[in-house]
Amino acid sequence: MKVYRDISLKAYNTFGIAVKTQRLVVMEDDDDVALAPILINRHSLVLGAGSDTVFTRDFDGTVVTFSNEKADGQTIKQSGNQLTVWAGMKMDDLVQWTLDHGLYGLENLSAIPGTVGAAVVQNVGAYGAEAKDTVVSVEVIDLYTGDIRTYTGEECRFGYRTSRFKEETAVRELVVYVTFALKDTYVPNLSYKALEGLPHESAQQMRDAITALRWTKLPRPEEHGSAGSFFKNPVVDETTYMRLKSEYPGMPEAHKVNARDYKLSAGWLIDKAGWKGKTMGRVGVWPENALVLYNLGGCTGDEVVALANAIQADVEQKFGIALSPEAIII
Ligand code: EPU
Repeated sequence: MKVYRDISLKAYNTFGIAVKTQRLVVMEDDDDVALAPILINRHSLVLGAGSDTVFTRDFDGTVVTFSNEKADGQTIKQSGNQLTVWAGMKMDDLVQWTLDHGLYGLENLSAIPGTVGAAVVQNVGAYGAEAKDTVVSVEVIDLYTGDIRTYTGEECRFGYRTSRFKEETAVRELVVYVTFALKDTYVPNLSYKALEGLPHESAQQMRDAITALRWTKLPRPEEHGSAGSFFKNPVVDETTYMRLKSEYPGMPEAHKVNARDYKLSAGWLIDKAGWKGKTMGRVGVWPENALVLYNLGGCTGDEVVALANAIQADVEQKFGIALSPEAIII
């Protein structure tokens, strides 16, 4: 493992916020994981790629993260159509690996920043696919007892951008490996409306098209830090949806999530409220997508929170809808 003292976390969170941590530990193999219960306590923080974390202060403790590649070369273990993957691997590298090896099912999750471990904690989703669709089991280490435990997909309690691993505030279980069951034939998943008309003859074409589409809506990480979608799409009951629909006939169709609830587009609400392209301090609302807050250069976490609060208050006042952040504020 690698241990750094008093180091900046700027390169460890996609917003690029320059706070410091007392100690940073990078775990590189199973022996390091076995030591995790000693290293990690309630003053520690586990980071994936930091793609959903906004730091508002220096971190007074130990930040623990995983190397992208496992030191022993066993980042991916294959058994037929099943892959068991080290939590630190970058999700997008895994998607390309699967296509290079004739395995399908992850292509719609192309270009999602973040690691495999974070992808299950968050149940990441995009373009009609979610991590939960292909995850069959998750191996964790219990930080209190050192026990290794495996949860089936069902036991992970996956929901919209959440799972059992996100439910507890104090991290007790650390995701170490994720097992995916993939397909050896490619069947394009075109369920998401925005994919209509995109090239999809091969999975690689689909991946390339989705990657290109994503980059029309999100800032390039090398130019501007961001956390992807900053807010979750709000889920409201039918009465609320119908009220808004009659007031705003131009509102995009909501997705029905169960018998009584609908998921609205937070991006549209924020856009309609007039926030697209606005800036406050060194943080802005991305001009191509109102759901994304971005770093104009050198922003602090407090500036991100100030803009997010202003947007939440305004959307609440204009539409009566409470937005909640997808990102975790620390
Ligand atoms: N819209 C606007 N103005 C905007 C942004 C969006 O009017 O500024 C409208 C769009 O025209 C569209 C609707 O809102 O009618 C929905 O937009 P889009 O299809 O781009 O998707 P989204 O709801 O904004 C979600 C996920 C993204 C994911 C895309 C594609 C959430 C919070 N966001 O965004 O996930 O990539 O769908 O599947 O669920 C992420 O979680 O970080 C993320 C990027």
